[in-house]
Amino acid sequence: MKILSIFGTRPEAIKMAPLIKALESEPGITSVVCVTGQHRAMLDQVLGLFEIRPEHDLGVMVPDQTLNGLSARVLGALDTLLTSISPDRVLVHGDTTTAMAASLAAFHRRIPVGHVEAGLRTYDMGQPWPEELNRRVVDIASDLLFAPTASARSNLEAERLAGRIVVTGNTVIDALRLTTDRLRGDADLRARLDTQFNQLRPDRKLLLVTGHRRENFGAGFANICSALAALSLRKDIEIVYPIHLNPNVRGPVRAALEDRPNIHLIEPQDYIPFVYLMQRSHLILTDSGGVQEEAPSLGRPVLVMRDVTERPEAVASGNVRLVGTDPQRIVREVAALLDREAISAAFVPHGSPYGDGGAAARITATLTGRSVEEFSPQFPVAAE
Ligand code: UD1
Ligand code: UDP
Repeated sequence: MKILSIFGTRPEAIKMAPLIKALESEPGITSVVCVTGQHRAMLDQVLGLFEIRPEHDLGVMVPDQTLNGLSARVLGALDTLLTSISPDRVLVHGDTTTAMAASLAAFHRRIPVGHVEAGLRTYDMGQPWPEELNRRVVDIASDLLFAPTASARSNLEAERLAGRIVVTGNTVIDALRLTTDRLRGDADLRARLDTQFNQLRPDRKLLLVTGHRRENFGAGFANICSALAALSLRKDIEIVYPIHLNPNVRGPVRAALEDRPNIHLIEPQDYIPFVYLMQRSHLILTDSGGVQEEAPSLGRPVLVMRDVTERPEAVASGNVRLVGTDPQRIVREVAALLDREAISAAFVPHGSPYGDGGAAARITATLTGRSVEEFSPQFPVAAE
């Protein structure tokens, strides 16, 4: 069976990497990887770390790309590729433009599609935008739906997609475990990271920040920056903010927050240093999907700068709180958590509802016709 995995951005690469490794070691499967290059530097960081060498690279990224331009380039390039390599199945991940266009291209060529991380929903087309549309398109174009959790399965069943769903856990937890194992087992690596981040004072609380959602461009980012500027007046914290390469994020964030002694604006980090920073952080402030899923496994509390989330499990279990982008609310919520003693014990009691590190194995087994015991979120996995 020839399986073509198609992905294009940093989070897709992190979450597909464990699955690519599992597919490569499966005797009945010929695994072929195509990256669209929707991201360039941020994708290549991940490919290098996980030693994935794509057979095909569409190289579609242009600076400040538009959704329509990007979709058109991916659709056009994939049509040619799908015809020439004729895979038995295409696998895509999540809700990016790459995933949406690739599933559509495969559907048009009557090639079966498997959707990894199927069934996430906010039921609000504007948040996240355009991802809420993208994931619905991918789900209806797919005949195999790998849902990370039981609630994702319920969403799909409510849309009459039952019969093609397997609950696998999220492959991000597989990737995270590989990385935390590596960090744990390699004292030299840890020492190098300690040196790399030696400007962070251990006597201060570390607030780790990421943000990139399109619906936060403009007013949302202005609000987030004004909250961070207010928080930076506290002398007991350090703020570390790896800034996404999107120019709509980079420009405003740099202009608003440069030259503040306890705000460290840094480049997007390779996955290992980023996991190290999550482990060192006291609190994470983000609008990222992946970070919401990873942090509970690490026992780190997360405030999500969004009004709605497609990842309700960690909100329900108390690991994650939605705070929106109102600056006063962000400052209030961060301060309340920073000032509370024994923060991890109080805020993160339940471990991870997103996976146990076995998602890639469950997906591979399903693809080869073996039965799998589904991931059960009734038994969340304890934080490390
Ligand atoms: C994309 C996804 C979003 C995902 C996010 C993860 C869509 C519509 N959006 O958003 O769902 O959460 O990735 O990070 O699919 N750029 C670079 N180098 C890079 C990456 C980006 O220069 O390595 C710049 C380019 O100017 C590019 C711009 O960022 O045009 C936007 O990239 P794009 O992938 O379109 O959107 P993201 O905001 O990254
Ligand atoms: N991440 C990373 N380096 C960074 C910031 C994030 O490796 O500087 C990782 C993070 O751990 C998570 C993924 O990138 O696995 C999330 O990507 P992003 O926030 O860009 O996208 P989303 O998950 O929101 O789609």
